[in-house]
Parts: sequence; structure tokens; C-alpha cells
Amino acid sequence: MQVLGIESSCDESGVALVQWQGGAAPRLLAHALFSQIDLHQAYGGVVPELASRDHIRRLLPLMRQVLAEAGSRLADVDLVAYTRGPGLAGALLIGAGVGCALAAALGKPVLGVHHLEGHLLSPFLSDDPPQFPFVALLVSGGHTQLMQVQGVGDYVLLGETIDDAAGEAFDKSAKLLGLAYPGGPALARLAIAGDAAAFALPRPLLHSGDLDFSFAGLKTAVLTQVRKLGATPTLQQRADLAASTQAAIVEVLVNKSMRALRDTGLTRLVVAGGVGANAQLRLSLNAACAKVRARVHYPELPLCSDNGAMIALAAAMRVQAGRTRPERSLTFDVKPRWALGAIG
Ligand code: KG4
Ligand code: ZN
Repeated sequence: MQVLGIESSCDESGVALVQWQGGAAPRLLAHALFSQIDLHQAYGGVVPELASRDHIRRLLPLMRQVLAEAGSRLADVDLVAYTRGPGLAGALLIGAGVGCALAAALGKPVLGVHHLEGHLLSPFLSDDPPQFPFVALLVSGGHTQLMQVQGVGDYVLLGETIDDAAGEAFDKSAKLLGLAYPGGPALARLAIAGDAAAFALPRPLLHSGDLDFSFAGLKTAVLTQVRKLGATPTLQQRADLAASTQAAIVEVLVNKSMRALRDTGLTRLVVAGGVGANAQLRLSLNAACAKVRARVHYPELPLCSDNGAMIALAAAMRVQAGRTRPERSLTFDVKPRWALGAIG
């Protein structure tokens, strides 16, 4: 079976081809990505209308590239999968429209995939895939959640952010530090030369006793420090503030992840979503998990942020697990707001 995956929920156009046979683990044949970062940078954030228009331009050339790299033809595709939500409505509609039209033209079934299920399962494409059950820490630009994952489609929400997502905390703090969108990776780079103990920033909900997160207060604390530094902070002061901000976010994420392992009695942690690429987060989680003899799994770095591979993979794993039976369809919808716990 070959699954063509299409991702278009935000500012990355992604296409991929995944293959599997019987019960064997699906493997990635090829994937291609076009990031719209340059397009949105001038606006300091994603402009939904521009994102939609660019997905229209990118998806078919990306598809051609993926098929060529995999040595496959459209006729070899057995199933078309697209991101059905959550995400920007207009952007989702482009991937859904292209995917459903293609499947209809080929006479093949089509499947709408939950974006976060894609992130959550993406470590299964790594050289060190996890085994069920595990705790998943989903940390992206729009979501921060801890989930208990018993198997494909069996997701129980343990806790989530009550305001900003971890990626949002990185991006908003980075903006306050004068860094370009998307600020997460830029803040992490600036933090390398900084002293994480230089600024005392809050660790919101660290001792709340539950598995919820809150990052809005941290952004306000960073704003206060930026104002105190005045109009011309030195590079060292900016690096120190970046390192202190990163340390605050990482400490809360690590602390709550370890609590989730304790509460559930599970010994495997899966980290997914864009913030999962953060080197400091990986170092701290590796150390904390080693201490309690838990295993931690990550997606390969290129598959941490949005991509088509995770969408094709999630579709393949859902079909393999008997969770979904893809059907031929001439109609489709998208779900801009869609809770992961709501899917079966
Ligand atoms: O999963 P993702 O690509 O898109 C969403 O579904 O939201 O996550 C994007 C988020 C952005 O907030 C970005 O700043 C953050 O992930 N991010 C990082 C790093 N790489 C990406 N944050 C911190 N450190 C990084 N290295
Ligand atoms: Zn994402």
C-alpha cells in the first residue's frame, strides 16, 4: 500500500509518500516541504489568506517531486490522506480540496487526518521508534498537551495549556527580544551565549499539582525585563534574557512530563511538535528520563515541524490498526478546531 500525505494546516506545504505491507511498520519513501517563513516574516506572523494562496502554488509541484524521488507514479497511490484539522480554515481547505480531487480522479479512497495525531505518531518514522503505551508531550505553535497514548486512536488528555502554547511563548518572547518570526529557533540560537540564571522568570503552574500549563504570564514577565533593559540592551543582556526564558519554558515542560510519567506509571515518553526540536528541551528531558530509567523518543529533526510524512504515516497506522476504513468520497470538510481526544 502507498499513501500520499498532504499537509497544509498552517505555513508549511508538505507532501509525502509512505509505504507499508501487511503488519510491517510503514516506511517513508519520499517527502518534500515548502516553508512559507519568508512570505510571512515581513508581517511578524502567519497571514492566513497568504498562506492559503501559497499552498495552492506549492502542493502540485511538491507532489510531482515526491513521486519522482520515490520512483512512483500517481497510479501507484492506494490512498490519499490530507490534514483535516485543526489549523487555519482556508489553508486546510486547499490540502483537503487537492487531496479529495486527486483521489476522485484516481478512483481511490481518501482520509482526513488529525494534525496532532500526525505529530504524535511521527517518532514511529525514526530509527528508534517507540512502543505503545506511552505519554506524549505535544509542543507546537498552537498546542501544548500531555496525552496518555495506549495505541493508535486511543488518546486520553492528561493536561494542556490554559492560555498560550509553548511555541507561542517562544515566539512572543522572541518578538519582544527583537527576533524575526518564527522566533523559537532564533531565541534558542541567541540563548546559546546566554546565562540562564541571569533573570528570575516565573515558572507558571510548576507546583499546581496537575498537568496543566500556563505561559501567558511568562511573556508578560519577559516584557517587563525588556522594558527595564531600555532601548539599547547589549547582545549579552539579550542572550541572557533569551537563555532565562528558554530555561523557564523547558523547566515547566520537563517537570510536567515527569509528573505525567509518575501519575500514569508509564516508562516511555514521546515528544512531538515544533518545540520538540529545541536542543535544551531534549538535553533536559534526556537527563530527567535517564534518572528514572524512562525512555524518551523524538521524531527525526526534519519531521519535528509540520510535514506531509506524519500525515501519510498517521493514515497508514490508522488503517493498519483497523481504526478507520477510508472511503471514496466526492465531498469533504475541514475542522479548524478539533480536539485530539475526540477522535477514536
Ligand atoms: O509543530 P509546528 O511546526 O507547527 C504547529 O503545528 O504549530 O511548531 C511550530 C512552533 C513555533 O512556535 C516555533 O517557534 C517552534 O515550534 N519551534 C521551536 C524550535 N523550532 C521550532 N521552539 C523552540 N526551539 C526550537 N528549536
Ligand atoms: Zn504542527
